[in-house]
Amino acid sequence: MGVKFGTKTILAFVLAGTIFFGLNAVAHAAVDPEATMEFTAVEGSSGRVQIRWTPVQDATAYYVYKSTDGVNWNITNVGNAQSYQDNSVTDYVNYYYKVQATDYITSIYTPTVPAYPPDTNVHGNYAENTSLCAGCHLTHSASGEKLKVATTIVNLCITCHDGTQSKYNSLTGEVRLSGGIYPAPAGPFGNLKELDYDSAVQVVAGYTYDGSQEPSNLPTSIHNLGEIVATAPGSNTAYVSTMNCTTCHNPHGSTNYRILRDDLFTAGRSTPIIVEAYAVTGATSENINYVKGNVDFCSGCHSDFHQPSGSGGVGADKTQQEGFNLSAASAGKRMHSVDMRLTAYDFNENLRYGVPLTMLSPLPTESWAGTPTVACMTCHYAHGTKEALTPNPVRNGGQSTALKRMDKMKLCRNCHQK
Ligand code: HEC
Ligand code: HEC
Ligand code: HEC
Ligand code: HEC
Ligand code: HEC
Ligand code: HEC
Repeated sequence: MGVKFGTKTILAFVLAGTIFFGLNAVAHAAVDPEATMEFTAVEGSSGRVQIRWTPVQDATAYYVYKSTDGVNWNITNVGNAQSYQDNSVTDYVNYYYKVQATDYITSIYTPTVPAYPPDTNVHGNYAENTSLCAGCHLTHSASGEKLKVATTIVNLCITCHDGTQSKYNSLTGEVRLSGGIYPAPAGPFGNLKELDYDSAVQVVAGYTYDGSQEPSNLPTSIHNLGEIVATAPGSNTAYVSTMNCTTCHNPHGSTNYRILRDDLFTAGRSTPIIVEAYAVTGATSENINYVKGNVDFCSGCHSDFHQPSGSGGVGADKTQQEGFNLSAASAGKRMHSVDMRLTAYDFNENLRYGVPLTMLSPLPTESWAGTPTVACMTCHYAHGTKEALTPNPVRNGGQSTALKRMDKMKLCRNCHQK
């Protein structure tokens, strides 16, 4: 968390400093730059967001910053209280907040936190609202029919993420916005209810788990929950647990985008996996600004596929994924690079790859280098795809639409318009 000064703060600092030193030369009790400040509550209700945070010793003011895109911030309140109620929010728009504590000489900031009016995010900021635990842990001890629904982690998540107690329906891959129900960024899983996730489940085109779903929402391929993690194509991990929602997400919250795990196979890494992105909600769409770390995250399991610029032309002998060696199955394979700039930065390079400066129709890119770069999410969805695509041959000898956003040549031609 960087300590930054906004223009307004610097102005105030100059004023306060002049007055302070002019009147009194005694040492000033200052905000400790190493101190931490956390949110203790972030609660949504219709048309309202209530936030509270921990006190900071010697702070003379708290500045509350608010954003709808995680990039452009406005100061929405300045005061001494350790809480703020924002009454100017629209339901089903994602907001981001952060608070600055300052004595006009030193400032510290909370991490950025998302808020989801009219809902309260149950995944984190529990300090003052431990009743949120009940949303998941009572379910474990309930009896009867409901108990069956939550005997597995997947079913626990689905008690809310079938769109009933969260705006996100991960079965249909949809989100409730102010304008109605629209596609959600990660795509659909299909109907996952009433299944035993100790064994693997396979999805083929046109298949519903219990036959109750509308055909228009059927995935043609998904991340098969229940599969052994080590069987991931391009994987070089020995992790033999079966994949479920909490293999990728931390139910108790994380500072990563979408509460993605920062401790995913970090054994050989010196740093946690930091995934940064922001959801921008409109009335009819939720669009993601991917910032950085998404390739690191996917490559936590598909470590071989983290290949650098130029990797399409030479056989692989290593991977960029920190802490991993290339697996034997990928040795000598040519693989499409990731993390490289989408736009050629000089004329020769443009000629070499035949990559134009624009895409035919927009695919999501990351922007960590200031220019768009290609991530796994540029070509794939994270949960599943419901696009009716021609299946590709995949490494296990089968055929799959491989969570792709577009069909075979359409996908390639979107960037390579030869
Ligand atoms: C969104 C659902 C959800 C909420 C809300 C939730 N938990 Fe959990 N909790 C889980 C799941 C799922 C596990 C199983 C561990 C895993 O897969 O990571 C778990 C595991 C635990 C464990 C076992 C140790 C561990 O961390 O794995 C404890 C203790 C716990 N939760 C306490 C709490 C408390 C206290 C709260 C409220 C402050 C809470 N949980 C809120 C879903 C939740
Ligand atoms: C008690 C209901 C409930 C349960 C159970 C639940 N969630 Fe959530 N989840 C929510 C709500 C509410 C939100 C906030 C978004 C919204 O307005 O719906 C949310 C948000 C999320 C998000 C987006 C977070 C973000 O910051 O953008 C993810 C990812 C998520 N949940 C995953 C899970 C997983 C994985 C489980 C199972 C371990 C789970 N949820 C169980 C209610 C629930
Ligand atoms: C292989 C890793 C992985 C697994 C397994 C997984 N998720 Fe996700 N999930 C992601 C990623 C990555 C995103 C962000 C995708 C994006 O924005 O492009 C995401 C996004 C979400 C969101 C935000 C809404 C959306 O559609 O983008 C919710 C809610 C969520 N996941 C819930 C779940 C639930 C519930 C399960 C289990 C049924 C689950 N996830 C399993 C990786 C995973
Ligand atoms: C927790 C480990 C894990 C993470 C993280 C993970 N995957 Fe996977 N992935 C798997 C496993 C296991 C399989 C094999 C099971 C299956 O076919 O779904 C798989 C399969 C796939 C497939 C092939 C599916 C098919 O039908 O052939 C694609 C494509 C894929 N993953 C893309 C991604 C992308 C993109 C991300 C990042 C959003 C990602 N994975 C993150 C574990 C993971
Ligand atoms: C999002 C845009 C995008 C899409 C979609 C895309 N590519 Fe690329 N491709 C690039 C960029 C950028 C490069 C330059 C890579 C580098 O710096 O190594 C490239 C490089 C290549 C190369 C040359 C590799 C080398 O090292 O010589 C081949 C071959 C290629 N792509 C094939 C494909 C195929 C096949 C598809 C469809 C599955 C595809 N591309 C889809 C952007 C894209
Ligand atoms: C330029 C587009 C593009 C990018 C970028 C991309 N993929 Fe793929 N991926 C594909 C296509 C197309 C397939 C279909 C199978 C094939 O052609 O090899 C595929 C297949 C896969 C498979 C299934 C492979 C198999 O043989 O079973 C996995 C797993 C996968 N991708 C993961 C990833 C991960 C992880 C990343 C990021 C490190 C990534 N992909 C980046 C286009 C892409």
